[in-house]
Amino acid sequence: MIDFHSHIMWGVDDGSKDIEMSGEMVKNSILQEVAGICATPHFIIDEQEIDADLYYSRLNKLKELYGRDINILSGLEIYINPNIPKYYKEKKIWGLNNSRYVLIELPMRDYPVYTQDVFHELLVLGAIPVIAHPERNFKIQKDIKLLEEILEQGALAQLNAGSICGMFGEAVKNMAEVLVKRNMIHIIGSDGHNNHRRRTDVISAFQKVKNINPELYRWMDENNYNIINDLKVEVPEIQREAEKKNSFLNLFLRKKK
Ligand SMILES: [Fe+2]
Repeated sequence: MIDFHSHIMWGVDDGSKDIEMSGEMVKNSILQEVAGICATPHFIIDEQEIDADLYYSRLNKLKELYGRDINILSGLEIYINPNIPKYYKEKKIWGLNNSRYVLIELPMRDYPVYTQDVFHELLVLGAIPVIAHPERNFKIQKDIKLLEEILEQGALAQLNAGSICGMFGEAVKNMAEVLVKRNMIHIIGSDGHNNHRRRTDVISAFQKVKNINPELYRWMDENNYNIINDLKVEVPEIQREAEKKNSFLNLFLRKKK
């Protein structure tokens, strides 16, 4: 499996502080038995932009020092902004392992009105938006339809390993479980920021996902590499428990008539 979301690149955001810490984080990933880890620092348009040359020189350094037993892959966690399509076109931002799959972060407490427009423009450009940790978004927690809509539009979703393990509280954990049950998650990331409190741990989350929805886990296991290799993936259908119950009830009522 791949850890699709981490802040192992040192000195560019609130993640790893120095190259030694990056090394510790990568070593932990090897112990977590992942085959690869994406270095996805925060990229905030006009506020915290990372220059591609700096990014790739650090990525190469990480690969050279710590990439013997694990694939260290590229990526970014891009904060939602109406200019994302423009930046993508200008190649100022890039996807997971340079693929069409672009990791996008929503604000934690908000769901911007332009989200679907930005995703639409990206899809037209051939990119596939991947929503980072939707289970942590307050608006999605209150109204799961918001996520259903963007997944139906063609986006994917990335779960934080810590979310399903209870690291961010009960509400987030419950939401994570619902999303996994309903096939509304496609990839998993540690979102590791350091080597103490927010580590690059993923193994217990993989186990939890496997227990909750074995079929989804199998799909993830098969499609991890398709995403990394920039191939198209066919996602599992969203499960709609409530609607299923209703249609069963309708059938029952119809029979009774
Ligand atoms: Fe992150």
